[in-house]
Amino acid sequence: MKVGILGSGDVGKALAAGFSQHRHSVTIGTRDPAKLAAFASQRQGVRVASFRETSTFGDVIVLAVKGSAAADVLRDADEDHIEGKIVIDTTNPISDTPPKNGVLDYFTSEESLMERLQREFSGARFVKAFSCVGSALMVHPKLSGGPPTMFICGNDAEAKNTVTGVLDQFGWEVEDLGAVEAARAIEPLAVLWCIPGFLRNDWVHAFKMLR
Ligand SMILES: NC(=O)c1ccc[n+]([C@@H]2O[C@H](COP(=O)([O-])OP(=O)(O)OC[C@H]3O[C@@H](n4cnc5c(N)ncnc54)[C@H](OP(=O)(O)O)[C@@H]3O)[C@@H](O)[C@H]2O)c1
Repeated sequence: MKVGILGSGDVGKALAAGFSQHRHSVTIGTRDPAKLAAFASQRQGVRVASFRETSTFGDVIVLAVKGSAAADVLRDADEDHIEGKIVIDTTNPISDTPPKNGVLDYFTSEESLMERLQREFSGARFVKAFSCVGSALMVHPKLSGGPPTMFICGNDAEAKNTVTGVLDQFGWEVEDLGAVEAARAIEPLAVLWCIPGFLRNDWVHAFKMLR
C-alpha cells in the first residue's frame, strides 16, 4: 500500500517504521521536514513531505497529530486529497490542562473527536485504531499475555477490513466495535491506559478482550 502518515511525533514515527518494515511505501508528513531528516535517513523508502504532499501520496492516510490540531491538519491536507481514502485515526482529544491524579482531561464531551472529523470530512473513510496503546507497543507488541486487542470502529466495512489486515500484520487481535459512534467508548480507553503510567511510571501494557 502507499501510506501517507500525517504526524512527526512518536506515533507517526512508530507507524512509519512499522509500515516500512512490512514493505509498504511510506511518506511521513510534518510542517517542518528538517525535524524528520535523521529518522528518514535511517529507513529505506521512507520519504518526508508536507501534510498536503503526504495526503496526496497515500492511498491510506494515518492521522497521527495532536488531537486539537487534527481538523486543521486535514483542512491543510485538502479535503479533495483524502476523499474516498481510508484514514486510520490514532488521535485522542487530549486537552492542554495537565492530568489530575493521573487522569487526562479531554476537550470533547459526549461526541468523540472522530465523529467530528467524519462529519466535517464526510468523503473520507475514518477507522479509529492504535489510539488506546502507547506508541512503543503499536507494532509487534511483546507482552506476556499474548497478542493484545485493538479496538476499532468506523462506518465503512471495507476500510475496517483493510485496517484489520494491517493490525494482523502488526501482531494484534482486532475487536470491531461498529460504527463511528463507538469512538465515544474507544477514545477514553487512552485515559485508562495512561493512568498506570502517570501514577507508577508503568507504560508497558495493553488491553485484551477475554471471552
Ligand atoms: N504518543 C503515544 O504513545 C500515543 C498513543 C496513542 C495515541 N496517541 C495520539 O496520537 C496522536 C499523535 O501523538 P504523538 O504523541 O505522536 O504526537 P503529538 O505530540 O500529539 O503530535 C505531534 C504532531 O502534531 C502536529 N501538530 C501539533 N500541533 C499542531 C498544530 N497547531 N498545527 C498542525 N499540526 C500540529 C505536529 O506537527 P509538526 O510535525 O509540524 O510538528 C506533529 O506532527 C495524538 O492525537 C495522541 O493523542 C498517542
